[in-house]
Amino acid sequence: MSDMIPVRTQEQYVRDVAEIMAIRARGAAPKALVHTYGCQQNVADSEKIKGLLEQMGFSFTEKEEEADLILFNTCAVREHAEDRVFGNVGALKNVKRRHPSLIIALCGCMTEQEHIAEKLRVSFPFVNLVFGTHVIHKLPELLFSTLTDGHRVFARGDDSEDRRIVEGLPVHRDGDIRAWLTVMYGCNNFCSYCIVPYVRGRERSRAPEAILSEFKGLVAAGYRDITLLGQNVNSYGKTLENPVSFAALLRMLDEVPGDYRIRFMTSHPKDATRELIDTIAGGTHISHHLHLPFQSGSDRVLREMNRGYTSAQYLALVDYAKRKIPDLSLTSDVIVGFPGETYPEFQDTVSLIRQVEFTSLFTFLYSPRVGTRAAKMPDPVPAEEKSKWFRELCAAQEEIAARRCAAMVGTVQRVLVEECREKTGLLTGRTDGNVIVDFHGNPDSVGAFADIKITSARNWILAGEQITK
Ligand code: SAH
Ligand code: SF4
Ligand code: F3S
Repeated sequence: MSDMIPVRTQEQYVRDVAEIMAIRARGAAPKALVHTYGCQQNVADSEKIKGLLEQMGFSFTEKEEEADLILFNTCAVREHAEDRVFGNVGALKNVKRRHPSLIIALCGCMTEQEHIAEKLRVSFPFVNLVFGTHVIHKLPELLFSTLTDGHRVFARGDDSEDRRIVEGLPVHRDGDIRAWLTVMYGCNNFCSYCIVPYVRGRERSRAPEAILSEFKGLVAAGYRDITLLGQNVNSYGKTLENPVSFAALLRMLDEVPGDYRIRFMTSHPKDATRELIDTIAGGTHISHHLHLPFQSGSDRVLREMNRGYTSAQYLALVDYAKRKIPDLSLTSDVIVGFPGETYPEFQDTVSLIRQVEFTSLFTFLYSPRVGTRAAKMPDPVPAEEKSKWFRELCAAQEEIAARRCAAMVGTVQRVLVEECREKTGLLTGRTDGNVIVDFHGNPDSVGAFADIKITSARNWILAGEQITK
């Protein structure tokens, strides 16, 4: 009999969910609260989820009490991220008690782990729908099942067919000045500490034509700061039928006329080429900002991390980049307390940051992730000791950042004006190097570029005066 049931199309699922929700909603129209944890990749995914929800008739709210659907897009990168999600999901139990028709959904990286899915199944019975990073496009169908089948739905894309790239999904963008554009999905690197390759699958690049078309649409819509996203953008295009390098993609996008900036992240040092640096140097719209995570300054630790480069290779690349792009702003990620790291090895990290002088640094305490190689390594250094090292690294970076900011006083920076703060009337924006600037100026400049004379620096935020109105 089952083969006689007609297969519904995506449009039918969208229409059916819209009809059901129109009746079920507590207000005039159904409302969804979408909360995003983790990296920009997740933010970009949430914008697609919101696009699909919007098609199904949802509007958005920040208030749990008025939501008909609460969806958390989760992150698994560190234990702390997962704990926060569990805490916040646990708190929804009471909201659901007050509003039994509320649908609670969880998606994203956490849900792709078997042990987490199991925990949700057993300990969080009030969660209605759980779906992984590979099946976002199926949200209408999954919601339809949740609403009609009368049981909980768990959907994680385990078959390869589900890991293809689905183009053409609607996008509900959160901002109208800055935009995220995913150029590739997944990661092949298997850094020994990292869960991402397990929860995001292998590298898949979008076709350059699809990227170019979305990019042109963003420029035409007036977006001024467009960030290209991928876990390792420098290996973009390698698996395409007609391989294209990331540098070539950048050059292609850079040719689109308009008043905008291109950023990209993340660059993996092992795949960042001199061609990439030359492309940034020669670009018209490409920011002089490079996020280049080094993770550790110790070669032994880098080897154990499976990063594929040495500190000397990293420094050589940075040196080349600084020569080619003198005003380059470098930012990075670093892990403190990798299993077996010694204090002298940690000191190699401190010495690397002093050599490079990063504009800013994202520092993380190592967090063991189930299923990764590092999680099985002996980890003798006590947590308090690691925290001490962590504070030492932060203090060193604060000093560097303060010095770099102070050196910008007196210069004129081209700032993308993002907001006028209601309380103070101060405008705020970002330099090409991604440093935040607060300044007095013309509120009509919001959404445009303005030249700002930097007058002071405090707490690694610059202050200035607008010199172009
Ligand atoms: N693809 C990017 C990083 C993605 S995850 C890259 O390779 O650079 C963002 C950052 O989280 C990483 O750069 C790393 O510094 C940190 N991170 C990843 N796994 C971690 C773990 N298990 N414990 C602590 N920090 C981790
Ligand atoms: Fe994780 Fe390494 Fe891939 Fe980055 S490159 S996502 S750190 S495995
Ligand atoms: Fe987290 Fe997944 Fe990003 S694990 S950091 S949200 S790719």
